[in-house]
Order: sequence, then C-alpha cells, then structure tokens
Amino acid sequence: MTDWPDSGRAVRARRGKPRLPGADRDGGYGWISIALHWLAGVAIIVLLFAGDSIGTAGEPARRIHTTIASCAWLILAARIAWRMLEGHPPPASGQGRFSYGAGVAVHYALLAGIALMLVSGPVAGWSSGGGIEVFDLHIPGASQRIPDVYAIAREAHIIGAVVLAAGTTAHIGGVLKHMFFDRDNLFDRIMVPPKRRPQTST
Ligand code: HEM
Ligand code: HEM
Repeated sequence: MTDWPDSGRAVRARRGKPRLPGADRDGGYGWISIALHWLAGVAIIVLLFAGDSIGTAGEPARRIHTTIASCAWLILAARIAWRMLEGHPPPASGQGRFSYGAGVAVHYALLAGIALMLVSGPVAGWSSGGGIEVFDLHIPGASQRIPDVYAIAREAHIIGAVVLAAGTTAHIGGVLKHMFFDRDNLFDRIMVPPKRRPQTST
C-alpha cells in the first residue's frame, strides 16, 4: 500500500485504455478536474447570490442570473460527467475513513444539486412564459405560463439552491478543518496534480 493509492477505476483505465492528458491519476486530481472544480465553484457562488437577488432586484437581476447560468451550463454539465467517468479519488494521505466518507458524501450531494439546477432552471424559465435572456438574446418560453410545471420547477430550483448553499458551507468548513487542524495535504490536491509515481510494470 502506498501513500497515494489509485481508485480501482484509474487502475483499470491505466491497464486498458489510454488516459487523456490531464485526467485524474496517482491517487489525486488531474488538471481537468482542477480546472473544472474552480471554474464551476466560482460560477456556482456567483449564481447563488445573483439568483437570490432576483427577489429584490427583479428583471435586471434575472437577466444577469440567466446569462451567467447559460454561459456556465456546459462547464457545470461537463464537471458532473467528468466526475462520473473518473470516479472519486481515494483518501488523501493519512485521511481517516469517517472524514473521507463524509467528504465524498458532500461532494456527490453538491454534484446532485448542480444537476438539479441545470434542469430546473431552464424549465422554470420556459414554463414561466418569460423565457430566458442571454445577454441581449431572448430565448422565448411557453406561449403562456404553465403554472403546475412552473411551481414544480421553481420549487426544485429553490431546493437545489439550499442544497448547494448548505453543501458549500459544509465543504469549505471541512477543507478549513483539514488546513488548520489536521494540517494534511487535502487542499493541495485541488490546486496541483500529485507528483508522478514511478511507473511499475503490472
Ligand atoms: C448551479 C447553478 C444555479 C444556481 C446556484 C441558481 C440559483 C438560483 C437562485 C438562488 C434563484 C432564486 C430562487 C428563488 O428564491 O426564487 C434562481 C432563480 C432562477 N434561476 Fe437559477 N440557478 C442556477 C442555474 C440556473 C440555470 C442553468 C438557469 C437557466 C438557464 C436558471 C434560471 C433561473 C430562473 C429563470 C430563475 C427565476 C425563477 C423564478 O422565480 O421565476 N438558473 N436561481
Ligand atoms: C473556497 C471554495 C472552495 C474550496 C477551498 C474547495 C476545496 C476543495 C478541495 C480541497 C477539494 C478536494 C477534496 C478531496 O479530494 O477530498 C474539493 C473537491 C470538490 N469540491 Fe470544492 N472547494 C471550494 C468550492 C467548491 C464549490 C463552490 C463547490 C460546488 C458547489 C465544490 C465542489 C467540490 C466537489 C464536487 C469536489 C470533489 C471533486 C470534484 O468533483 O471536483 N467546491 N474542493
């Protein structure tokens, strides 16, 4: 057992298929995961605040929210697809079972929350009858509001926002615990890929 064990999926992939440059490797995150994590993280925090201000600032805030959300849509979707394909890396060096299990649970709850937002947002915009604004482009919605669909989509969007807000708070709290109390290398994994391990013939 080494300090940086690979997930079963990574091991299988190394034996069989060629790996994309930037894919997860050596028990940590590769550049693709790191870039998607930070691009999506910033977009989600901005979208949470921009979405919340729709209630008070009205139409201009809605336009800003739907514009940023539409531009970020593919990155957020790619982020979910990539994690599903790659699987989750194994524990960081010295990380306990409970801490790892809690971290993985929060990560997948966040990914599920993002997926819910990617579907419920466009459906809410369409079924409201108002459509979606992307800069000055107006993507029309249904010819009239569809109240039942709109109510479900809006409720789902609000639930997703609560999951993301609570999940992000727990996530950042957990990371701070690792940085200041455990003083391990967990935060480093999402900044730079791990050092390459010497190749062994398997
Ligand atoms: C992770 C991504 C997203 C986050 C965090 C987010 C967050 C929010 C929040 C907090 C609200 C206010 C909910 C309320 O209190 O009424 C909102 C509203 C809204 N969002 Fe999003 N959103 C996301 C993605 C999207 C996407 C992809 C779209 C569509 C392109 C979208 C379209 C809308 C619309 C149309 C509303 C207004 C709904 C209404 O009240 O009529 N959102 N969003
Ligand atoms: C200041 C903000 C943030 C910091 C410092 C941070 C830090 C980290 C760290 C250190 C990891 C690796 C943890 C591990 O492997 O056990 C990680 C992974 C992850 N983070 Fe964050 N994060 C932040 C914001 C966010 C936000 C806003 C989201 C989404 C709402 C998010 C979602 C995730 C997910 C899903 C993972 C698992 C790996 C992946 O799929 O990218 N993070 N983060």
